[in-house]
Amino acid sequence: MKLLILNGVNLNMTGRRERSVYGTKTLDEINAEIAAFCKARGAETEFFQSNIEGELCTKIQESDADGIILNAGAFTHYSYALRDAIASVDTPVVEVHMSNVHAREPFRHVSVISEVCRGTVLGFGKNSYILAAESFLL
Ligand code: DQA
Repeated sequence: MKLLILNGVNLNMTGRRERSVYGTKTLDEINAEIAAFCKARGAETEFFQSNIEGELCTKIQESDADGIILNAGAFTHYSYALRDAIASVDTPVVEVHMSNVHAREPFRHVSVISEVCRGTVLGFGKNSYILAAESFLL
């Protein structure tokens, strides 16, 4: 089992931006926790972050992973390109958000990717990624 953990726009700032919302751990620290969690369960991990929408689409198109965990950041709310990329592959994608987007600004209540994802995990901070990984490992 191989999982691709894909992070979109501004997620490289995790640990430095809006710490009360996204926590104090950096993306590298969070990724290390995800890698250890998966390794202990016999799963391989690959990590990729980009602020560029098209790079995320290409990564989804070219992935050889068995599953993708995607925190698309703000792209979640308006990227039809990402939605189409997810819909164009057979690889199951689980949408992730660290914050509870439904308890935040109205524009965050809309996800244009949810409909083409296997499921969504949100509101559990960095553990949202771990719970999404677990969904593939059950
Ligand atoms: C986020 C929520 C998005 O609304 C926001 O634009 C992000 C992070 C989250 O992890 O809670 O960048 O996806």
